[in-house]
Order: sequence, then structure tokens, then C-alpha cells
Amino acid sequence: KKRIVSGVQPTGSIHLGNYLGAIKNWISLQNIYETLFFIVDLHAITLQYDVQKLSKATRDTAAIYLACGVDISKASVFVQSHVRAHVELMWLLSSATPIGWLNKMIQFKEKSRKEGDENVGVALLTYPVLMASDILLYQSDLVPVGEDQIQHLELTRDLAKRVNHLYGGRKWKKLGGRGGQIFKVPEPLIPPAGARVMSLTDGRSKMSKSAPSDDSRINLLDPKDLIAKKIKTCTTDSFLGLEFDNPERPECNNLLSVYQLVSGKTKEEVAIECRDMNWGTFKPLLTDAVIAHLHPIQVQYGEIVSDPSYLDKVLADGAANAEVIAEATLSNVYQAMGFLRR
Ligand code: TYM
Repeated sequence: KKRIVSGVQPTGSIHLGNYLGAIKNWISLQNIYETLFFIVDLHAITLQYDVQKLSKATRDTAAIYLACGVDISKASVFVQSHVRAHVELMWLLSSATPIGWLNKMIQFKEKSRKEGDENVGVALLTYPVLMASDILLYQSDLVPVGEDQIQHLELTRDLAKRVNHLYGGRKWKKLGGRGGQIFKVPEPLIPPAGARVMSLTDGRSKMSKSAPSDDSRINLLDPKDLIAKKIKTCTTDSFLGLEFDNPERPECNNLLSVYQLVSGKTKEEVAIECRDMNWGTFKPLLTDAVIAHLHPIQVQYGEIVSDPSYLDKVLADGAANAEVIAEATLSNVYQAMGFLRR
């Protein structure tokens, strides 16, 4: 069976972008593949964060995975920091990562420019090495993510190839290893729709947890009234009718795509249904579809968080499963890199 891993940071609340770009797609994948889904708490400390809130946000994110339909009889759900090998492998990988590769990362460039060099930690630069470690530890075949993670996935692939080249094959065999590839080279899995959900207040920037205005995103746990208000006041345009893929109408394309995904209709069906609509007719339709889609998730979420011991057990079991795979990879890497084994 091919193996899939993915994760979300426990920062702020999970929004429709995280859901439509990533989590929703995990649900169908868990039936076909071996899946591991983690909450990347170590990534969440990259920029300034609230110490008082991290552990609760981590549990809440796990509860959201389950509420969205991640099924623990099929998938392992665990917290990144519970499996120590992530950090350990990161150190080993960082020795093989050229600084130039990290300097080129768009997310690093944007955030460090905004905050200034003196105000960001080294972790902002090395963040993609930790992400590569999350993926390579599990010898993953596919990584379902939104479009904004493609560059990090490319770096992960390059790094896997580089380590295989530097330490794998005959060199590894001479050290008593099995030779061959140390890491599998993973592929990104980007959904055909929903890979880049845009902000409700600006159709040209993506929906994000860190945008200052909460009106720019719909959070999975937003109450009905708030969802209605956010859609009612979201940015639109004054063209006639509604259509996909008009580059001058990013908001229109975005809202139709969201409607398509939450209603379960096809793009063609939505294009025909909404062709002659105006915003006044479409917005209530979208509001109802979003609320109807999120309602069962919110109910499930409430049940899951009401039983903390259940969630503890899920996360403990998940970490135990993950650790077996992670330790095997880590042990190979230490061997291939020539370390004295205990
Ligand atoms: P994060 O927490 O920023 O986002 C989690 C997932 O949501 C996707 N996403 C979006 N998709 C569509 N539209 C949007 N507006 C949108 N915003 C976010 C992201 O692409 C991602 O799939 N570095 C990662 C987490 C990570 C990870 C990993 C993922 C760490 N290690 C290993 C996969 C495998 C991140 O910060 O995602």
C-alpha cells in the first residue's frame, strides 16, 4: 500500500482553505492508502506564538481532524512533537541542506521581509527542513496539500535525492547497511479544486490564519450567524451573471469554487446553475451550503472535545504507530551517515 502523510499547524483556527485544500481530501485517501495525519505543533512555534494556547490548539486541531472524518481505524493521528524522531532527523537533514535552497523559499522571503531579520528566529529559515523530515521519516509516497506548500514539497524531493546520492547506495552498503535509496522521493497531491481558497475580503490573496481580519476567512467552527455575516459582507464585483475562471473576477471564481466543493456539485453544474444569478441570489445559496456542510462537522467536534480521555488515547495510539516507522528510517539514516550505533 502506498503511504500518505500530511499535517496542519495548530495556530489560530482551522479555516475553509485548510479544509478544502487539505483535510477534506484526506478523508477519501484514507480508504485507499496507508495514512498518517499529524498536528505540526513544532512548526507552530516558528513565529511568535501564545504559550498559553499551544496545547489546547493542538488538541482542538486533532479533534477537527476526527470531526472532518479522519477515521482512526484507518489512519494514524498524532502530534508531531510526540514522535521525537522528527526533530532528530531534521538535524541530520539540515547538514545536507544548502542555505541557498532555504533562502529561496517564498514563505521565508515574505515573512522575513515583513518582520525584519532581527525579529525572526532561525526556525523560520529551517522550517522546510523540519517539514521534509515529517515526510521523509515515513517514506511517504504522496503528500496531499494546498498549492502554497508546493515549493516546500519540491525542496523535500530535492533533499531526499541529495541524501540518497550523498549517503545511499554502495557507500551505505559498505557501512553494513542494505544499500540503495535511503529515502523514498515523495510527490505532492494537489486537489483539482480548492488548492488555493482565497480571502473573502481580497480575491487576490489566499485565505490565511494569520490575516489580521477574521472577516477574511470562514473558520470551520464559526457559528451560523457569523458565517452568514461574513458571506454577506464579503467582497464581490459588479459584472452581470456569475462565472468561473475570469481572471478579472477572482472573488467570483473563488466563491463559486467554494460553493462547488461544499455542495458536492460539479463545476459544470455550478457554472450552469449560477450563470444568470446576481450576488443577491447567490450569497444566500452559498451561505446555506456552507452552513449545511459544516454543521455535522461542528456537531462531531463538540462530541469529541467533550471526552478528553478519548482524544488522549487516539493521540497516544497514533504516536505509537508512527514511532515504529519513524525509528526504522532514523536508524537507517544514522547508519548511512556513519554514526557509531549504541
Ligand atoms: P498550514 O498549517 O499553513 O496549512 C495546512 C494545509 O492547508 C493548506 N492551505 C490551503 N489550501 C487551500 N487554500 C488556502 N487558502 C490554504 N491555506 C492553507 C496548506 O497547503 C496545507 O496543506 N508547512 C505546512 C504544514 C506541514 C506539512 C508537513 C504538510 C508541516 N509538515 C508535512 C504536509 C506534510 C503548513 O504550514 O500548513
